[in-house]
Amino acid sequence: MDFAAELKSLKDQIRYRSRIVTPGVFKNIVISGMGGSGVVGRIFAEIYSKFPVVVVHDYHVPDFVDSNTLFIAISYSGNTEETLSACEEAEERNASIVAITSGGSLARKNCQVIRIPPGLQPRSALGYMLMPLVNTFLNPSQEDIERTHLILKEMDENHSLASKLASEIFKQERFPVVMASSPYRSVAYRWKTQFNENAKILAFSSDFPELNHNETMPLKLSYSLDRFYFIAIKPESQRIRKRVDVTQLVTERTFTAVEPIGDTLLQKLFYLIHLGDYVSYELALLRNIDPSDVSLIEELKRKLQ
Ligand code: PA5
Repeated sequence: MDFAAELKSLKDQIRYRSRIVTPGVFKNIVISGMGGSGVVGRIFAEIYSKFPVVVVHDYHVPDFVDSNTLFIAISYSGNTEETLSACEEAEERNASIVAITSGGSLARKNCQVIRIPPGLQPRSALGYMLMPLVNTFLNPSQEDIERTHLILKEMDENHSLASKLASEIFKQERFPVVMASSPYRSVAYRWKTQFNENAKILAFSSDFPELNHNETMPLKLSYSLDRFYFIAIKPESQRIRKRVDVTQLVTERTFTAVEPIGDTLLQKLFYLIHLGDYVSYELALLRNIDPSDVSLIEELKRKLQ
């Protein structure tokens, strides 16, 4: 499947009805994963707070992991060493294990395995990896899912906003800095990682209100400020909107505003995720770069074996 077709498959991925069978009793959730799979845990942890959710992007699990933990290992390939290592540790601690994967060693584990379709780049399979968590813990209505499908379909047909952003970043040879606030901080991070992997440029994410306590000074006084392209995802909260306005005022900087579209969190979240997918994809095309190429990541993994 070419990369454009992978992007277009997101609207169908969100119809993926798979659910996790949760243990009768658990007190916390730990989600482990790296890169395109790991970001799924971040997104979920930001939108779900009925239980403590800790996301691990590393080899080891926190000390508190025990038989009261629901441990969810997410790896598209099923072969990522950090995720497999964390999963083994969680097994040793008697946690309840769930694996979300398209195959590999993770699929062969003696645990609940949610098998997702293979053949995509991991970062293009976000819907398949996120929806089992969303279906299980947030239980969206069918109407919500269908409306989200429609919003994504419309973007597949017309993503002129993404093209415009990509072209501005490209023409000015800037590095994107994506700023957001709850519940979209992890979306800003996803944009950063999509810029990295698809368009092969350095990019950064940052969040309000925390950035008002550190990055605000360099936003006015750093060197090379003209090398960055600042994007601010429109905050849900009035107070944070005021912060974004006042930050631009005191730093004399302009942020390009991006507004979520939709009526529910699911719709807005996926709209923003997909917009970031398209901006990074369009930027890759402008740079004449293959968005699916991750050869250096693969070479690094091989050399570590
Ligand atoms: O998007 C990618 O290709 C990477 O970020 C991978 O997701 C990352 O290397 C981890 O691999 P996997 O998703 O197979 O666990």
